[in-house]
This record gives sequence, C-alpha cells and structure tokens, in this order.
Amino acid sequence: MARLTAGIGSSHIPALGAAIDNGRTAEDYWTRCFAGYDWTRTWESDQKPDVIVLVYNDHASAFDMNIIPTFAIGCADRYTSADEGWGPRPVPDVMGDADLAWHIAQSCILDEFDLTMISKMDVDHGLTVPLSMMFGQPDAWPVKVVPIAVNVVTYPPPTGNRCYALGEAIGRAIASYPEDINVQIWGTGGMSHQLQGPRAGLINKAWDTRFLDDLTADPDRLRTIPHIEYLRETGSEGIEMVMWLIMRGALGANVRELHRHYHVPASNTAVGHIVLEPVR
Ligand code: DHB
Ligand code: FE
Repeated sequence: MARLTAGIGSSHIPALGAAIDNGRTAEDYWTRCFAGYDWTRTWESDQKPDVIVLVYNDHASAFDMNIIPTFAIGCADRYTSADEGWGPRPVPDVMGDADLAWHIAQSCILDEFDLTMISKMDVDHGLTVPLSMMFGQPDAWPVKVVPIAVNVVTYPPPTGNRCYALGEAIGRAIASYPEDINVQIWGTGGMSHQLQGPRAGLINKAWDTRFLDDLTADPDRLRTIPHIEYLRETGSEGIEMVMWLIMRGALGANVRELHRHYHVPASNTAVGHIVLEPVR
C-alpha cells in the first residue's frame, strides 16, 4: 500500500525561483534564506519519495475570474511551467501521477469532498518554486506530482477547518492506494505577507512562529483561526497558510517536527519552512 511518510510546509515566493534560475543564491541577500533548505535537500535525497501531493494556489495563471475552483486536483500525466509575464521558468516539466490522482479524486469525492478534476493546466510559482527549493536544478524532477490547487486568491477562500478535513480525506485516500509507493504531502504559500496597499511589507514573526509551533503542539487551534485573523495579523496574502493545514490534516493526529527554518527578508514575505513526520 502507499505510505504517507512526511509533510513539508514552504513559502513559494517567486523571487526565490528567480534567484535560483539566475544563479544568484550565493549573493549576501540570499545565502541565509537558502541555507535553511540545505537540511531538507540532503534529507530528500535519502527519503526518495515517489510522489508529492503538492498543495498550492494558482495566481491567475491557469485560472482567472472565469473559473474559480475552491479545491481542484490535477489528473494529468504532465504539467508545463506557466508564463507569468517573464516567460515560463526554465524548469523541467512536472510529471503527474494520473493513477494516484484519479484514485484520490474518487476517494475524496465518495468521502464527500468534491474536488474539481483537471486534465490540462500550466503550473505557476506556487508549485514550481517549492520543487526548486527542495530539489535544486535537476534535468528532470526526481518525483511525480499530484497538484492540489486551492483558491486563496478570490474571496471567499475555504476555512482552515475545511482545509484540515480535506487533508484528513487525502490521508485516507493515500492509505487506500494499493501501489507500494512513498508519498509526501507539501503545503505551500505564506508566511505573513502583504504585497500591496498601505500595509505592504507587513511581517508578523510572533504570529508565524506560533503557527509553526502549533502545527505540532496544537493543530486544533489552527483549525479555528478565522479569515479575519489571517488578514489582520498576517497581511492580505497570509491566508495562503490555510494550505499548510491540508498538509497537516493528512499526517494524522500526531507529528514530529524534523526541521524548521524562518527567515526575513525575502521579497515582501516571511519565508517559512517546516518538515514534519507522522507519529503513528
Ligand atoms: C510574493 C509572495 C507570494 O506568495 C506570491 O505568490 C507572490 C509574490 C512575494 O513575496 O513577492
Ligand atoms: Fe503566493
């Protein structure tokens, strides 16, 4: 049977991808930010996951105001890097796992989580930047990816509680997949950030730190955080953190924290990164 072996949280800031793509990670501005991912790159080369269920949000690249799925699952064999205005990132195509994706879709929908099934879409920085942070610049990504796209761009996004419960359903789906594969789930986005308006540049380290602490210590508290608190305390884009709750929900009741990194500045956003292991 498939084994869900770990969960990763990570920011997906486009400037991180640009720093990698343009060979600038050794510059003073970036060294400490990237150093916090060294542990994970080494750990991943031991873990050798087969598939990442990668929870991210599209930023008006594949979807726009014409269609806004709250939760969608990529069921394709291949995804191409989206052109976000500067040309597509020079990264390998992302290979899907259609069999696992359709299994998760069936399992979740029969479990009363109605995912939108997507057979063709481009993937933007929300998905490709975390791959680059964890795997560097390979000729081909060493994993397959099942994209789970969440609307956190247009109000109303899903609640944290709903996201956590979807994660639990995804966990059940993975556990019932008959192939003997090593699966990880990643939640991306965050941490505190506001990209526009009078509060642009808002960072709330104390709030972010408590969020990271409570992924292990008190996930039930995180489930109850209302949208207005994300907005007030973490800026207009901090709501991306509800996607980390899908990752956390999939891992089950208890987890162990293996690694953590928090760094400011990176663009306008607090970089947060955590690696969690389920304790069964
Ligand atoms: C930035 C962060 C994001 O999460 C995003 O989607 C776009 C930009 C930033 O900090 O620049
Ligand atoms: Fe984002």
